[in-house]
Amino acid sequence: MEITTNKISIVNQKGGVGKTSSTVNLAGALSVDFDRKVLVIDLDFQTNLTDSFEIIEEMNKTSYDLLVDPKVEVNETIYSTNIKGIDIIPSSVKLADIDIKLSDKKNRVNILKSKLDHIEGKYDFILIDCPPSLNLVVLNSLVASDSILIPAEPGLYSLKGLNRLIQTFNTVKKKYNKNLKVEGVLLTRVDKRTNIAEEFEEKLREKLGDKIFNTVISQRVAIVQAQIDRLPVSLYDKNSKSAEEYIELAREVISNEFR
Ligand SMILES: Nc1ncnc2c1ncn2[C@@H]1O[C@H](COP(=O)(O)OP(=O)(O)O)[C@@H](O)[C@H]1O
Ligand SMILES: [Mg+2]
Repeated sequence: MEITTNKISIVNQKGGVGKTSSTVNLAGALSVDFDRKVLVIDLDFQTNLTDSFEIIEEMNKTSYDLLVDPKVEVNETIYSTNIKGIDIIPSSVKLADIDIKLSDKKNRVNILKSKLDHIEGKYDFILIDCPPSLNLVVLNSLVASDSILIPAEPGLYSLKGLNRLIQTFNTVKKKYNKNLKVEGVLLTRVDKRTNIAEEFEEKLREKLGDKIFNTVISQRVAIVQAQIDRLPVSLYDKNSKSAEEYIELAREVISNEFR
């Protein structure tokens, strides 16, 4: 039976909110703990996602080539990682000035989607780690996706940023991708010793209703340690609280009602 590929953009124009960590650790939980086949795509010129895995082959082609060169096919940009069940499309520092390169192309927001169409059914999940921006690269990601997952750190600026993100989401949905859904907002880097998170969660729920994951990701050193070892946290320390949280998140994603 042909499988359905669920394509999820991990997006927030704010940096440091846990997009890359959540991409790695959700991918880890989906593949290691739920046996799903996952492709992760790095669209950030900072290459943090790429650096979170061991990739043995030489990375001749990256997401940059995929976006700027019409002749480059998606299969040429996919590499195996040290984690069985996770493949990656790595990124490159060249992505830093990609907006200029794309801005005069026809169908410039549809490039990623048309390339990913060729691997429909090959993976259970494609997780796309977006840069901290709402640029053309992010638009490509939203157009290519079925849903968006929004990691957010509790705080006032966070709420303001979410308004803009939701506006962008609505525009993309209206103009390019009418089936785009909100997978959920994921509270990340939460310090359980303060009650800021609880207040924030309350405000969010007023705004977004049930679009917030029940799972909350707490601020823990295991996340950073696992990253240094280039492992998803559920492989780094299966019994850690962080592993448990990302496994719970994976469970919620798998059973999201629109799936
Ligand atoms: N739950 C967490 N606990 C502790 N540190 C975290 C956690 N999530 C992310 N970090 C750290 O915070 C920094 C920013 O996270 P990252 O995932 O790179 O954010 P983004 O991709 O949104 O910029 C990184 O150094 C990462 O190791
Ligand atoms: Mg990142």
